[in-house]
Amino acid sequence: MIREETVLQNQLLDPEARIYKLVLKGKVAETARPGQFVHLKVSPTLDPLLRRPISIAGINRQRGEITLYYRVAGRGTELLAGVREKQTLNLIGPLGNGFTMPSGGELLLLAGGIGIFPLFSLLEALDRTKVKLKLLWGAENRRFLQAVGLKTLEQMGVDYEVSTLDGSMGRQGLITALLESYLQERNYTIGTQSLKFPGDPWTKKDWDPTGEERSPLRAVACGPQGMLKAVTAICLQKGVPIEVSLEERMACGVGACLGCVCTVRGADGALARKRVCQDGPVFDGREVVWDEEG
Ligand SMILES: Cc1cc2nc3c(=O)[nH]c(=O)nc-3n(C[C@H](O)[C@H](O)[C@H](O)COP(=O)(O)OP(=O)(O)OC[C@H]3O[C@@H](n4cnc5c(N)ncnc54)[C@H](O)[C@@H]3O)c2cc1C
Ligand code: FES
Repeated sequence: MIREETVLQNQLLDPEARIYKLVLKGKVAETARPGQFVHLKVSPTLDPLLRRPISIAGINRQRGEITLYYRVAGRGTELLAGVREKQTLNLIGPLGNGFTMPSGGELLLLAGGIGIFPLFSLLEALDRTKVKLKLLWGAENRRFLQAVGLKTLEQMGVDYEVSTLDGSMGRQGLITALLESYLQERNYTIGTQSLKFPGDPWTKKDWDPTGEERSPLRAVACGPQGMLKAVTAICLQKGVPIEVSLEERMACGVGACLGCVCTVRGADGALARKRVCQDGPVFDGREVVWDEEG
């Protein structure tokens, strides 16, 4: 799965937030699924030694292209920003499990900041004649939303609402307030349908609107850990199954080094360790043991 892909585009989208769009041509597009990632070698030398994981945000199988969006966070992504068109990039991928793809019902997508990126590929792949979609996106301000994805969402015809911390667009505040209002409008009331672990064995039927589901609505969330924890708590309290895409620092990216393990709790209440790179990055919200819970 180690491949060389050709850089078709590496474009700065938002100079302030330092967000880039990177389009690559090669073999990854043949098998990539929404929610998976690639592990990029950001320099031709051995420095830095470790690759950097970036989510697959767009998949065009016909053209053999994938699209990635990244924020310059440190040395690795700084080097990536210097890559030019027609150069090749060495990567491992596609990696990880990806999102569960619903065949019907309603899907609520919850994005915090750059957590919108992996959701683009999910939006692209869903059959919107069968799955009703709603996207809630929380970010710092209008400039960020406009530079990073509003145009894409509008081109895709996605039904969305946004919140900003400074109130420059949409509702002022956190995405949790948007989520609570949305669920309230739909009469999802706390308590009666709680999906909390332990003692509540979860089956795939919960996600399958043709099965004996509890909720026609399910959610998928990507973003910073604090946001994931908060939206998961709200969804589970209201009986809405949720999948979350976790981010951990990664070394090998292929399940060998145990550098990216997280703690999960199974339906029987027992704790276990899972590798975010191979068992994830997408997990059932009920199984995740958030950091401070130990
Ligand atoms: C599965 C997965 C998918 C990701 N997808 C994207 C994406 O689509 N777009 C994007 O911009 N970023 C994404 N990231 C985060 C990205 O991998 C890191 O920002 C990048 O590796 C930082 O490398 P660096 O050398 O530039 O920064 P470093 O110098 O290594 O770190 C700079 C800062 O970023 C933090 N950081 C580094 N790695 C991570 C990480 N894995 N998770 C959270 N914080 C981190 C560090 O704590 C530090 O504060 C993803 C991470 C994972 C695990
Ligand atoms: S990064 Fe090595 S096991 Fe996940």
